[in-house]
Amino acid sequence: MNSKFLTEQLHRAAPADMPPSQRRRAVLRIAAGFAASAVLAPVASYRAWAQPRFGAYPFSLGIASGCPRPDGIVLWTRLAPDPLAAGGMPPENVELAWELAADEGFRDIVRNGTEIATPALAHSVRAEVGGLEPARWYWYRFIAGDAISPVGRTRTAPAANAAIERLRFAFASCQQYEQGYYAAHRHLAAEDLDLIVFLGDYIYESSWGRNHVRKHNAGEPYTLGEYRNRYALYKSDPDLQKSHAAAPWIVTWDDHEVDNDYANDQSEDLDPNFLVRRAAAYQAYYEHMPLARRVLPRGPDALLYDNYAFGDLATFFVLDDRQYRSHQACPKPGRGGSNVVEVCAERLAADRTMLGSAQEAWLRDGLARTRAKWNVVAQQTLMAQFDRKFGPGQSFWTDGWDGYPAARARLLTDIAQLRVSNPLVISGDVHSTWIGDLKLDFEDLQSPAIATEFCGTSITSQGLTQLQVLGALGENPHLRYGNGHKRGYIKVELRRDTCIASLRALDSEKRADSGIATAATFVVESGRPGAQQA
Ligand SMILES: [Fe+2]
Repeated sequence: MNSKFLTEQLHRAAPADMPPSQRRRAVLRIAAGFAASAVLAPVASYRAWAQPRFGAYPFSLGIASGCPRPDGIVLWTRLAPDPLAAGGMPPENVELAWELAADEGFRDIVRNGTEIATPALAHSVRAEVGGLEPARWYWYRFIAGDAISPVGRTRTAPAANAAIERLRFAFASCQQYEQGYYAAHRHLAAEDLDLIVFLGDYIYESSWGRNHVRKHNAGEPYTLGEYRNRYALYKSDPDLQKSHAAAPWIVTWDDHEVDNDYANDQSEDLDPNFLVRRAAAYQAYYEHMPLARRVLPRGPDALLYDNYAFGDLATFFVLDDRQYRSHQACPKPGRGGSNVVEVCAERLAADRTMLGSAQEAWLRDGLARTRAKWNVVAQQTLMAQFDRKFGPGQSFWTDGWDGYPAARARLLTDIAQLRVSNPLVISGDVHSTWIGDLKLDFEDLQSPAIATEFCGTSITSQGLTQLQVLGALGENPHLRYGNGHKRGYIKVELRRDTCIASLRALDSEKRADSGIATAATFVVESGRPGAQQA
């Protein structure tokens, strides 16, 4: 289609005497056809289809917001009229409008704009909205053609160093789709939280576990298209969409967003093409999370770790413990990935790293600078030492921090030496709840707690038996509480003098309509590391 042809088309389909609103639509429709043909041309087009027609509702994966800052927020959606089959969009750019309002009814729209959804990013879009007021609720939605997205609620962070009385957040992880329904997300959405923190295993690449209530619709993903379909399956769940719509999210990943037990550039089956797979998985993750554009992967690399300040009350240090870590020590013969070991000199090597040197230096610098009352290290897996062997002797799982004791000691030594105010470590991955003291020497009962750890259970992924939990509590006296059989999340209220953590436990993850109750409540008093059961 050349430009003379386009002009003729415009004259015929949108004559100058047509009413202005009708004419605009007609012009856009012609331009859309032109843009569509340009996709096939060797020169890329920046034109976008502004009045698309969809075969089905295109906002099938909901909306989300994230990365709250005092003056801004990231809004996310993806156009997917056929979500489980590659999205169902034509290979064309599509223009979306977004609106952000001060009220739920969108009478007071404070910001609006447009973004282009491109096939290169699976028609996912993010709007980085700036110029907002701190510590305020906002409502947002997207519009594409005649389709309007569900409405999301979000909240900006308080102004830097503002004296804040209270922050309410919850953290969660591990939501294997087959092993349960997302009732926990429905309850999360009803908690009235300022923030939701997700600590990884948002999807699972593989089918595993007992008593499935539903099934993955495809085998293990390896390609970008396969990972996109896996995210679409998970995000098609209405309860998961509800908790995204209820509050801004801060996210990090663990292993299952790519492959079980991967470490840096190595997969557990030592796949020689693993970095190609990692690049596909990282891109699909970026496409489906409310992350800032700075996280856009470059090949197999993505800069995910970041910090978030909430006035003078709290700073979150959100870590990536997968991308830069040393390979697991003492793996099984011919394998990568985890092992459970008793004797393994390699595990104890001083140069082993969980975060990589750049992230470690960034974290140390952040911990040195923070003036926040509470400092939350948000990361993937249990940080406390966890001896798995009942009775004399010890054994350790090499995929967790126990596989990287020198790196853990460096981090905890930094926290102690820098006199970080009220350090809290929040964790996931192990599908069981653990409340414990983090110490410089876990073998010494007299060694003081220097930080408090809250390790949350899973949204659905199956956990430990109560026998395993009781055994572990006996072997690891720095762990004050353990629970393996309840699924859910931990809700935290930070105040100036206390941190109150409520362990929210589902009746059953096997029922979509499951109720929820508080299994236990723990309190940390400011200036006194270690949680006390209330
Ligand atoms: Fe998990």
